[in-house]
Amino acid sequence: MSLTDALQRLTPSLQSALRQALTLSAVEELHTAYLGRKGMLAQLMARLPELAPEERPAFGKAANAVKEELSALLTERTGALGAEAEEAALARFDPSLPGREPWKGSLHPTTLVMEEICRVFNALGFETISGPEVETDFHNFEALNLPKDHPARDMQDTLYVSDGVVMRTHTSPMQVRAMLERKKPPLAVIAPGKVYRRDSDITHTPMFHQIEGLLVDKNVTLAHLRGTLTLFLRALFGPEVAVRFRPSFFPFTEPSVEVDISCILCEGKGKIGNEPCRVCKSTGWLEILGSGMVDPAVYGHVGFDPECTGFAFGLGVERVAMLKYGITDLRMFFESDLRFLRQFA
Ligand code: DAH
Repeated sequence: MSLTDALQRLTPSLQSALRQALTLSAVEELHTAYLGRKGMLAQLMARLPELAPEERPAFGKAANAVKEELSALLTERTGALGAEAEEAALARFDPSLPGREPWKGSLHPTTLVMEEICRVFNALGFETISGPEVETDFHNFEALNLPKDHPARDMQDTLYVSDGVVMRTHTSPMQVRAMLERKKPPLAVIAPGKVYRRDSDITHTPMFHQIEGLLVDKNVTLAHLRGTLTLFLRALFGPEVAVRFRPSFFPFTEPSVEVDISCILCEGKGKIGNEPCRVCKSTGWLEILGSGMVDPAVYGHVGFDPECTGFAFGLGVERVAMLKYGITDLRMFFESDLRFLRQFA
């Protein structure tokens, strides 16, 4: 076969080969076979010296034209295969399928409960305030009438930062801060936040959350305390809950009371069917907060008129959250396990 004939056969031969090429990589292989550096066209060009010198320019011209044809064919086939693939993908796509829901974050149960409690008190006119977690001995103990030899000041219970500086062991120093800042009554504040103790076992963590409340005015009585806290506890745990006030002792209140609610699991019966209730340990009651009338000694420390009257209270947030949501293990609050946290979304 003459060199020219061989050249003229390339185009029809590629045409029929392309009809069999069903994938982009098959087309790519044909590109190499025909137009590659060692491909068929290059091999024919290499034989140029076989021709008489006067035939060479015409052959070169013809070869260029064939090269154009071949590459046009290859490009066209590549484009067609691409369009087919796109069409097939679209045919597989079902626009009626529901979308994947993006994962939304959610508030931590501790935050949820703190916000709910603050909302109840805000509605009663209490203002939410916050303050430092690293406290002076004065704010955390001294001004709250906790004497130097009080067991709560023991190194066993308190995390000391340095001499006279502690991680606050309760939110009660916020009472002191609020009174020092306002200088005189009336005031009604609620202070949520982190507190720290040197406890660590199944039911104690070195950091947990409390909410402190304080109301100071003229002629405030224990009846105001009872009314406010009863209303609060019914808002939080439901209108049927029974509330009980027991005499107690705190250095910064006089008189002091501890407040119990009827057990929310057994509804105060102490048992479920014939089984003893494990939540209230069969007592029918759950201790929920500490409270009392502000001790006049505290007013002395913050420069308030000792004739002022007011009440204060404090409660543990994780404990309330455990009761409200039926959480049985305190550690759940601190492990950041998404399987747990997502349930509060
Ligand atoms: N600070 C107390 C504690 O951590 C709780 C408490 C009790 C706060 C009585 C008060 C109160 O405001 O009046 O255990």
